[in-house]
Amino acid sequence: MSDRLAVITGATSGIGAAYAEAFAKQGYHLLLAGRRESELGRLADRLTEQYGVKVQLQIGDLADHHDLHALVDAVTLLPKLDALVNNAGYAVDGRLGDVDWSDHQALLDVHVLATTQLTHAALPNLVRAKGILINVASVASWIPTGNSALYGPTKAFIRSLTESIGLAYRADGLKALALCPGFTITDFHSRMGLDPETFYQKKGFVRAWTADQVVEQSFKDISKGRLISVKGWNYKLLVFLVRHLPMSLLFAALGRSKSARFTK
Ligand SMILES: NC(=O)c1ccc[n+]([C@@H]2O[C@H](COP(=O)([O-])OP(=O)(O)OC[C@H]3O[C@@H](n4cnc5c(N)ncnc54)[C@H](OP(=O)(O)O)[C@@H]3O)[C@@H](O)[C@H]2O)c1
Repeated sequence: MSDRLAVITGATSGIGAAYAEAFAKQGYHLLLAGRRESELGRLADRLTEQYGVKVQLQIGDLADHHDLHALVDAVTLLPKLDALVNNAGYAVDGRLGDVDWSDHQALLDVHVLATTQLTHAALPNLVRAKGILINVASVASWIPTGNSALYGPTKAFIRSLTESIGLAYRADGLKALALCPGFTITDFHSRMGLDPETFYQKKGFVRAWTADQVVEQSFKDISKGRLISVKGWNYKLLVFLVRHLPMSLLFAALGRSKSARFTK
């Protein structure tokens, strides 16, 4: 058993839980963060039993500054750290003016403040270990999401931050990755009141992938030294089109679409 340690936020379900499993399978001990204590506890017990790793829990809401500082302090005080996954995240439906400021503030705190501050706290140990930093962004980081007002912009921040850190610390051996999933089968959309049975497509341009597939792809991309990971031919094509077609075409298409919503 190695003595490597991975810290994962939003580990309770979906992509975060898939990362917890993937790191445990590789023999990493874990520090898992999330709000749902009993679900996180069940996951921890299963991973300990199945893979023989030690799992520590940090329960808290990353939009709560007290809880965020408790996790930042815990990460800062770790004697060593080999991997950090900033995965906690969600979307709030609505145009900028339709949503209460407190809800916008919470999203900014979880996506922007927590990701940046936890990365800052972890960097000395991560660099020493030539470790792994995975920040979960989205294909939406390249697409205006006018009806989930801060989702695309905050994910663009996460992607850009990770690209910047990845390049700045590459010579030190840090392996940084911005994970940019398209639709992925998790609790994300059911939290928004969408029915997973009808929402997730099994084929076609918007087909959804599983969290395990997204995570497996990300480890392949890290081993190839990539800064960005996009799972699936469909989302790779989407990102290629968005990045290479004239912006005027994208804006015209989004402007014409009555929904122009990211989530619904
Ligand atoms: N599913 C998709 O289609 C998709 C696509 C692109 C990007 N993503 C991104 O992938 C990441 C993981 O989402 P998911 O799809 O796996 O959905 P999920 O199953 O809902 O997982 C979200 C995780 O974030 C945690 N979380 C949410 N708000 C939090 C808060 N205020 N404080 C602390 N933890 C919080 C949740 O844990 P607790 O509830 O226990 O706190 C949960 O473990 C997110 O950043 C999301 O934006 C998802």
